[in-house]
Amino acid sequence: MPADRPYDIVLFGATGFTGGVAAEYLAAHAGPGVRWALAGRDRGRLEKVRARLAATDPALADLPLLHADTADAASIEAVAVSARVVVTTVGPYAELGEPLVAACARAGTDYVDITGEPTFVDEMYVRHHEQAVRSGARIVHACGFDSVPHDLGVYYTVKHLPEGVPLRVEGFVRVKGDVGGGTLHSALGIFAEIPRMLRAERARAAVEPRPAGRRVRISRRPVPRAKVRGRALPMPTIDPAVVARSAAALDRYGPDFSYGHFIALRRTATAAALAAGSLTAIALAQLPPARALLKRLRTAGDGPSPADRAGNWFRVTFVGEGGGRRVVTEVSGGDPAYDETAKMLAEAALCLAQDDLPDTAGQVTTAAAMGDALLDRLVKAGVSFRVLSAG
Ligand SMILES: NC(=O)c1ccc[n+]([C@@H]2O[C@H](COP(=O)([O-])OP(=O)(O)OC[C@H]3O[C@@H](n4cnc5c(N)ncnc54)[C@H](OP(=O)(O)O)[C@@H]3O)[C@@H](O)[C@H]2O)c1
Repeated sequence: MPADRPYDIVLFGATGFTGGVAAEYLAAHAGPGVRWALAGRDRGRLEKVRARLAATDPALADLPLLHADTADAASIEAVAVSARVVVTTVGPYAELGEPLVAACARAGTDYVDITGEPTFVDEMYVRHHEQAVRSGARIVHACGFDSVPHDLGVYYTVKHLPEGVPLRVEGFVRVKGDVGGGTLHSALGIFAEIPRMLRAERARAAVEPRPAGRRVRISRRPVPRAKVRGRALPMPTIDPAVVARSAAALDRYGPDFSYGHFIALRRTATAAALAAGSLTAIALAQLPPARALLKRLRTAGDGPSPADRAGNWFRVTFVGEGGGRRVVTEVSGGDPAYDETAKMLAEAALCLAQDDLPDTAGQVTTAAAMGDALLDRLVKAGVSFRVLSAG
């Protein structure tokens, strides 16, 4: 890792909603030993963020501000070579994210984001993974609620199951949260470009090596009613693919590993409404005028107030089976989309900058790149990982 860079961490996107929450988290938790800076395209807006941080910690009045605009390649390059770890909340990522991934892959700079966009992650793998392996950069996507609780929750569950045997894990997600402008616009981008997503998935599958002598699968089998109270619907987010990549990278997941990812809902009527609503949103996103109307539901930069976020929560239950053993675990925490996402992102950046980690490079998952170190950090930061039952 390049030690001679001016900054340990640069946060790109602090003028946005999630980036602002992440900046506040770093301000409260990075500590005086960490050299960090904010980057963005508008100096005035960056100054306002800095003034807000300095109101609670006057030492941050001199926090360095860097100019960076995704449309200005030289500014992105300058950020990538100035830091050991670059954190970005600038999205939609499929639209805006590639220049920074490319620059970090070239410069050997560690990179973390909070994307949940499968197209972006697959395209970045095909275009920049090999370069990042050569430079030593760790490119870690999905360091927010997508996909940290799921990726590290499965990692934690596997640790409580026997070694060297086939394992099957299922995750059941329950959430109370809000969708802000940036997330809505990114989700509509995914829905509008499903053919691009499928092309990216196929292009990745054609070049990505499979684990030698081991099998890793995403299970789409329906869940027996007895396993979950209420209804469980398959959750077609990026999370199961991230878990499968961790399983492919880590032998500890055993010779034959499968993972199923579900949203758990109390009532059948809620499950039916969610399924119908998702299909309607996907259908509407195909039509540019309807997509423009949907975007107007939330403006970029919008998000819920601290009071609203305080009432939000997430709880993911994992049922793991293998070698005659069964373990049920749970990962839980507060507001998934913003407070906990900002915490996971900032702790992942601090983890890459400060902790003794396994030797990895290229596009890597949170479990493969940071595993126990990030899990310990999150537990200390108030995210709960616990075993509910084991037998
Ligand atoms: N994984 C998760 O669980 C999770 C949770 C929350 C959000 N997200 C994702 O995170 C992303 C950000 O969400 P958000 O709600 O924070 O969005 P937001 O409030 O709209 O913020 C977007 C940020 O991107 C910056 N930006 C836009 N275009 C730029 C450009 N050309 N060059 C430089 N900066 C540019 C904006 O800067 P200006 O202020 O200058 O406009 C702003 O700082 C979205 O993709 C969202 O889906 C993921």
